[in-house]
Amino acid sequence: MKIRKKLILITLGATSVMSTFVLADESFNNSLPVVVDSTSSSTELTPAAKFVEALTGFDNITNGYISQDDFNTGKALFEKRKSVGDGLGPFYNAESCSDCHQGPVTGAGSQVSVLRAGSFNDGVFTPPPGGGSLVTDRTIDANLQVHIDDSLNVRTLRMSTNALGDGFVEAIADQTLLDIAASQAATRGAIKGQAILVPILEAPGKTRVGRFGTKDQHASLLSFSGDASRNELGITNALVSTESTPNGVDGSQFDAVAEPEDIDSSFINSIADFMRATKAPEPDHDLANTPDAIAGEALFDKVGCDSCHVETITTAPTGTVLSPTFKVPEALGNKIIHPFSDFLLHDVGTNDGIVQNGGAETRNKVRTSPLWGLRTHTRLLHDGSALTLDEAIRAHSGEASQVVKKYKALSDNDEAKLLSFLKSL
Ligand code: HEC
Ligand code: HEC
Repeated sequence: MKIRKKLILITLGATSVMSTFVLADESFNNSLPVVVDSTSSSTELTPAAKFVEALTGFDNITNGYISQDDFNTGKALFEKRKSVGDGLGPFYNAESCSDCHQGPVTGAGSQVSVLRAGSFNDGVFTPPPGGGSLVTDRTIDANLQVHIDDSLNVRTLRMSTNALGDGFVEAIADQTLLDIAASQAATRGAIKGQAILVPILEAPGKTRVGRFGTKDQHASLLSFSGDASRNELGITNALVSTESTPNGVDGSQFDAVAEPEDIDSSFINSIADFMRATKAPEPDHDLANTPDAIAGEALFDKVGCDSCHVETITTAPTGTVLSPTFKVPEALGNKIIHPFSDFLLHDVGTNDGIVQNGGAETRNKVRTSPLWGLRTHTRLLHDGSALTLDEAIRAHSGEASQVVKKYKALSDNDEAKLLSFLKSL
């Protein structure tokens, strides 16, 4: 059995990475992080603090952040089909979060895609008139249907990504992601992941390093809940309080429910807590422990896939302040996770052309897809354009060119081993 499948306890200072603690999130107070070496007597952490493997499983059981009852309530709201009477629309993509985030269980990803568009002229990306690049596919009245035309020369689909285990991802200190970016810049040649600071909607004026969504457009699951609630369901809320006007279409006269439709924020708070309480995707242990998959994992590292698809990251210590309303809870703090992502933006030649929170240079960059839970996906890459693992890997170019060259040079036998490792994730 391989080490990452075991419950392991690593005491403070066991490795250089783990001996440094960020007690305050630097982007939260916009000053340098307070970094305390574990040997320092001034540390606020108890010497007994340990790193523990994060819980994994597709079992609808809380990771301990909230009670099972509250988990069930949040899950039920995540699955609840909204109606026009609840405020659904006027523009929307689906009736519930789980319409797009389900498989094998609620909170995961799915084969459902959404439409994004904009224009790129004279080197500048501009979203369609009326706001964001998301062009909703459905409306509550046929007369409101939104269409795009050829004047929007950037047009792309975007697959629904997994949110299981994202509470652990939220609990990664900004500094950890910045350190990964710095190590790539120092040693990895063409590979230079970009971290972007994005607003925390529930803490106006505050930012953190983005880690959620294809463009790293959010750092907070509560922010993502407010954004998705309004953009995907048309349910306005305290964080995003006006209805969207996709491609400039105004639907206000069709909207009978007063803003904000999630009047007491109970919807966005519960679904955010539900996602924070989900366990991380679980690998197929039987497959992972076959000789082929074990050899394949070594090849994955050897050819350099792990430069971006980082296997192991630890979350910030329990109690780390992430925003004025959220500290890393015990269930999510000091955890070892295996996301197989650096959560940074890269140009690997799969160019989606969209700019969100990251500025013009992120136009052709996307987040390194976390490979945890890969075995539950059929349509690969941000737009679902690759339908086999080999196709997805060969589609990487740009920053990943050298690594993919090494992948292509593998013998058929070694390639099969690497793929069998990927199939276990
Ligand atoms: C119509 C499909 C659709 C619906 C409905 C939907 N989403 Fe998503 N979701 C997506 C897509 C597509 C992404 C990919 C990320 C992006 O847009 O960059 C995503 C990404 C996410 C992520 C980021 C996961 C990650 O780590 O990448 C979270 C969190 C999330 N959605 C939460 C929600 C919540 C909460 C709801 C309900 C209020 C919801 N979504 C409804 C399509 C959907
Ligand atoms: C320079 C960073 C980088 C390197 C090196 C890299 N990847 Fe990726 N990988 C990415 C990014 C970014 C994406 C998302 C691309 C997209 O969706 O357009 C991705 C996507 C993927 C996907 C699709 C996952 C999904 O759910 O859609 C697979 C599979 C994958 N990579 C495997 C590999 C393997 C195997 C290697 C080594 C041969 C590798 N990658 C090397 C950055 C990298």
